[in-house]
Amino acid sequence: MDKLIIHGGRRLAGEVTVSGAKNAALPLLFATLLAPGPHRIGNLPRLRDISTAERLLAELGAEVESSNGSVRVATAQINSMEAPYDLVRTMRASVLVLGPLLARYGRARVSLPGGCAIGARPINLHLKGLEAMGAEIHLDHGYVEARATRLQGARIYLDIPTVGGTENLMMAATLAKGVTVLENAAREPEIVDLAKALLGMGARIEGAGTDTISIEGVEELAPMDYLVMPDRIEAGTFLVAAAMTAGRVGVKGGCSEHMEALLSKLEEVGATVATEAQTLWVTGPEEINSVNIKTQPHPGFPTDMQAQFMALMALGKGTSMITEAVFENRFMHVCELQRMGADISIEGHTATVKGVAGLLGAPVMATDLRASASLVLAGLAADNTTEISRIYHLDRGYEKLEEKFRSLGADIERVPA
Ligand code: EPZ
Repeated sequence: MDKLIIHGGRRLAGEVTVSGAKNAALPLLFATLLAPGPHRIGNLPRLRDISTAERLLAELGAEVESSNGSVRVATAQINSMEAPYDLVRTMRASVLVLGPLLARYGRARVSLPGGCAIGARPINLHLKGLEAMGAEIHLDHGYVEARATRLQGARIYLDIPTVGGTENLMMAATLAKGVTVLENAAREPEIVDLAKALLGMGARIEGAGTDTISIEGVEELAPMDYLVMPDRIEAGTFLVAAAMTAGRVGVKGGCSEHMEALLSKLEEVGATVATEAQTLWVTGPEEINSVNIKTQPHPGFPTDMQAQFMALMALGKGTSMITEAVFENRFMHVCELQRMGADISIEGHTATVKGVAGLLGAPVMATDLRASASLVLAGLAADNTTEISRIYHLDRGYEKLEEKFRSLGADIERVPA
């Protein structure tokens, strides 16, 4: 297993190009099941989660050919309706095959994902919505078995604006009979990206990006030819790195409308935010103000940036309260940041971060994707050497992270353990 070795303390400076968004690409890949294809998806990041999604599509019978950041998927010969335990365990987003398979083939068998490093993460709202559309759902040996002759449009209120649930139900509704209305739907930019791709395939969708999405089912859809949106969480990670190292970093392709909560918090911290042409620049302050954040569904502060922002607050001038309100257990990075000298205590869903003058490099262990990113940021700002193990978590969601940081002047290298 590879490790990252970081000699910290350098100001980062320069411009990086943001890759395609993992969390937009995954539902797009599964949306190819809605029509025979051939589909083409470009600006696809090369990540472990994307390869897992491609492997799942291939297991279902799809022809998948990827090259140079794009993939061609032909789904005319789907001959399996099952997302097996091994793949769902590796990547929870595999449950997004449920809606498309049920809509196009009237059945699906998908392993129920268990809890994970950040919370219990049930899929009850996905299932409740599909049942409201007429699906019969049973649980058998850890698998969800779903059947429907043809899904029917329905009015569905989501108790929580679940991102995956909204995506699964939106895809299912595109081929249902009649109109489906999703209320309290997720408003994340990735939902809008999926809706744009589905519209291009001939779906009838209104309201994506608001809390009420209306989908009128059609008889069939055409192949997709689509470019994945830029990754707002990757972009945010580089911008926080600029703030932590008193550097100046530009993210090319970083879309400021997708990152308003983060950018306004960075300004409160004392950083300067500016857009020039297609590049979003952040200049870090000499002294970091401590600010409070509470994670919320979009357009609130994203839970996927909480760990990275906590690393920044570890170096704040005062005390910051960080409340995680989306997942119940997303503070796994705290113990590792403490090993680097951060002063953080947790009570319930809130971490109190008392800023320290500097972080100290240490051997640390990555526990999940964004926790790993926070350790990289801490390592970049720390005084001496940080060694991060279990970085396979990082490879699930960041493309060429160390190369991109090196291009900004960081001293970071990947070594085989
Ligand atoms: C998506 O996960 C992202 N994953 C996550 O990205 C992200 O953290 C999350 O949305 C929130 O923004 C992908 O897009 C592939 P949810 P998802 O359903 O869809 C509860 C990353 O680091 N809930 O919006 O699984 C759930 O337990 C990650 O890239 C139910 O109770 O998230 C959670 O507390 C990890 N019942 C909350 O809703 C349900 O049926 C939000 O989860 C569904 C969800």
